Amino acid sequence: EDFLATVAEKSHGAALRGDYASADAQYVVQQDWAAYTEEEHALWRRLYQRQMALLPGRACNEFIEALQGLNAADGIPQFEATSKKLEAATGWTIVAVPGLIPELTFFEHLANRRFPVTVWLRKPEEFNYIVEPDVFHDFFGHVPLLFNPVFADYIQRYGQGGLKAMQLGGLDQLARLYWYTVEFGLINTPEGLRIYGAGILSSGGEVEYCLTPGTTSRHIHLDIKRCLNTLYKIDTYQETYFVINSFDELFEGTAPDFTPYYDELKTKTPYPANSLLDGETELLPG
Ligand code: PHE
Ligand code: FE
Repeated sequence: EDFLATVAEKSHGAALRGDYASADAQYVVQQDWAAYTEEEHALWRRLYQRQMALLPGRACNEFIEALQGLNAADGIPQFEATSKKLEAATGWTIVAVPGLIPELTFFEHLANRRFPVTVWLRKPEEFNYIVEPDVFHDFFGHVPLLFNPVFADYIQRYGQGGLKAMQLGGLDQLARLYWYTVEFGLINTPEGLRIYGAGILSSGGEVEYCLTPGTTSRHIHLDIKRCLNTLYKIDTYQETYFVINSFDELFEGTAPDFTPYYDELKTKTPYPANSLLDGETELLPG
């Protein structure tokens, strides 16, 4: 399999963890919920409780409210039950996948309002930190906001934009937008900065860190072209958090054709992850 061979090569032989043998052409598998062990359900409950204790006053209300509607506190959820609720709410469904999947497939799922969720759960020793996304990150972090109609539309547009970026050589740029919004985005509310990014919401440490004033990380208003041109960290807390004022603002700001952005940025050196440019304001001063 091409994809798995490429991943193994890039990671110096380390294979992906999932069971790819049973996946279909779209990398979809059965969740096989009955196969989770009682230890795994117990680990899920610990992860869930730890995050829930951190979220009030930090996660955006849209996330907390949708999460509560999922009744996912007691163990690893059954995807099908949630998928039905989600389909009724915003027309999205959840598909089970063995883990990371090829970009093209990922974009195709999103463009068709299907969100891929990894079936396996991390090991107990990975309670605080995990390299590959697991079911806790994918489900807990990503699924709740798919109940928000505007955000749900944004992710679909992102998938369509990904298919387009593949044609235009803009994938590096577009991936930064996903990272800094869907994974690590912050939103301004009347009560203060709140988190909507799944990478933060499913992380034990970054939920607190990203909202702590006086760290070395930046909090700046999201400018799309600037974000497309900003490098990110994959193995430390983020050095920049981009802040939106509303999901509508995010949707509208990303609506223009990115073709000229890609053309322009191809010739530019990206900004380091910790830059503060002329005219930018730190939104969480120390
Ligand atoms: N407007 C972008 C384009 O033309 C597509 C896009 C939409 C990308 C929303 C990301 C998010 O390529
Ligand atoms: Fe993710």
